[in-house]
Amino acid sequence: MDNVSEKLKSVVAFIRTKTDFVPELALVLGTGLGGLAEDVKKEAVVNFKDIPGFPVSTVDGHRGRFIFGTVCGKRVAVIDGRVHCYEGFDVRDAVLPTRVCKMLGAKTIIITNAAGGLDLSYEVGDIMVISDHISLFFPSPLMGPNIDLLGTRFPNMTEVYDKELRAKFIKCAERLGTPLQKGVYVQVTGPAYETPAEIAFLRLIGGCAVGMSTVCEAIAARHAGMRVFGVSLITDVPGKDAVPLSHEEVQRVGREASGKLSAVMREFIKEI
Ligand code: HPA
Repeated sequence: MDNVSEKLKSVVAFIRTKTDFVPELALVLGTGLGGLAEDVKKEAVVNFKDIPGFPVSTVDGHRGRFIFGTVCGKRVAVIDGRVHCYEGFDVRDAVLPTRVCKMLGAKTIIITNAAGGLDLSYEVGDIMVISDHISLFFPSPLMGPNIDLLGTRFPNMTEVYDKELRAKFIKCAERLGTPLQKGVYVQVTGPAYETPAEIAFLRLIGGCAVGMSTVCEAIAARHAGMRVFGVSLITDVPGKDAVPLSHEEVQRVGREASGKLSAVMREFIKEI
């Protein structure tokens, strides 16, 4: 058996020594969206740093723990603080929390992120439902020996972001009077933000938002047969912003706008 499968199995076995919680849902909290963690009625918390061999984020604003508990009556495994490849982690480590959630029982994953708006009609603070993605500039998490216990060698990616889940989220937002954008997310490696020429290129190829996460998790989740829902909080619109972009600004906008995203998310979780 290859290293990735072995690591996955040993991490799951370790978590099982701490809790027998079986989640229905996994929820990944992006930059500035950690406030959603407060909605969880906690049953168990497992810190990434306590799990042997587990990648631990070094990024300010990313906590690094699994929270197991209920949100609006649903059994949820929250990934509170993801790791990114720009920190030096292999892409297969970046998707380890996603795969662990699947192995623990989660059949659906909700992925949130902070992203830059490429579409010039977007405003800072907008919420974008991810309809599709472009991952051409980022290594695939499926490289290396296939993990047969999760899925097939050549998974289909025609509908990564589940249509039915998108429709439900849109209905919940309409009910609350929260406007939404819908669009294509592009994952880049970072950590530098994009140059104006790169932004123009990403816009040209059909990107609506750009960020440094999510797509690899969505691919790993689809490979493992999970239903995927993804949503971006637009924290900047390069070329349109008065303030030069910084991580602090991304975190600030994330915190400020996350209230309205949390409200829609609660309704959505109730319904799925
Ligand atoms: N680019 C890349 N990643 C980001 C951005 C951006 O403009 N904003 C938030 N995350």
